[in-house]
Amino acid sequence: MNEQITKEYVVAVNELHKTFHVGFFRKQVQAVRGISFNVGRGEIFGLLGPNGAGKTTTIKVAMGLIGPTSGSVTIDGKHSHNPASRTNIGYLPENPYFHEYLTPEELLDFHGRMCGLPKATRRKRRDELIEKVGLKEAARRPLRKFSKGMLQRIGLAQALIGDPQFLVLDEPMSGLDPIGRRFVAELIEELNRQGKTILFSSHILSDVERLCHRVVILHKGKKVAEGTLEELLKKEAATETLESLFMRKALESGE
Ligand SMILES: Nc1ncnc2c1ncn2[C@@H]1O[C@H](COP(=O)(O)OP(=O)(O)OP(=O)(O)O)[C@@H](O)[C@H]1O
Ligand SMILES: [Mg+2]
Repeated sequence: MNEQITKEYVVAVNELHKTFHVGFFRKQVQAVRGISFNVGRGEIFGLLGPNGAGKTTTIKVAMGLIGPTSGSVTIDGKHSHNPASRTNIGYLPENPYFHEYLTPEELLDFHGRMCGLPKATRRKRRDELIEKVGLKEAARRPLRKFSKGMLQRIGLAQALIGDPQFLVLDEPMSGLDPIGRRFVAELIEELNRQGKTILFSSHILSDVERLCHRVVILHKGKKVAEGTLEELLKKEAATETLESLFMRKALESGE
């Protein structure tokens, strides 16, 4: 990729296809069907779409967890299959799962070690993050006793432990109550003000409307819209909601 593009964009998704083969007859599931988009440096970028649209699959390819069937994803100009592409990323998976006998302190210490943080920095960041995500009272409680919302919070702290410049959050508001959702929205805004780039997937429309500078809407593995919400919504009647936009774009694409 040329250097100018690398400077401007953190992520470049190029003609990405991902087909899964399932069951005894290896039936094909085309989860992602030729999508392209770029995430600009310093943006809050929303990957939107209904259930099964291909959001998590796209994110998993970007994180190098699965390979593309064809096409590519590059991060800071490095191909997603290259581990060096992941050195500056914090990732919150969809439905994060952690070793249930660890406490938040132990989990964050473990991830801090994996990021190569020295002991003193690790401790300091661990304590700050536990406080930030509102888990101080539960800092020494094993994760098996955590509610879904508490796991989501510790998942966010885990993504932030290495102080990455780029955050990839797969449904960060899922499982959270309204106060928790507002907390995550404010956290995303704060991180963005610090200059971090954030890519997140969601179908909670109010969160997206509030946060995202730009969005891509996926439907059945295809990109059906891209732009700022202002651009996407103003083209139609002023009363259009993101929900009706989802529906209209899906119908227009003929899918
Ligand atoms: N490992 C897999 N094996 C087979 N099919 C898969 C696999 N992962 C995803 N799929 C299929 O790919 C399609 C896209 O799934 P994906 O999880 O990317 O959607 P999504 O947009 O994240 O949906 P949601 O909003 O429900 O999280 C779905 O039809 C899903 O069943
Ligand atoms: Mg998903």
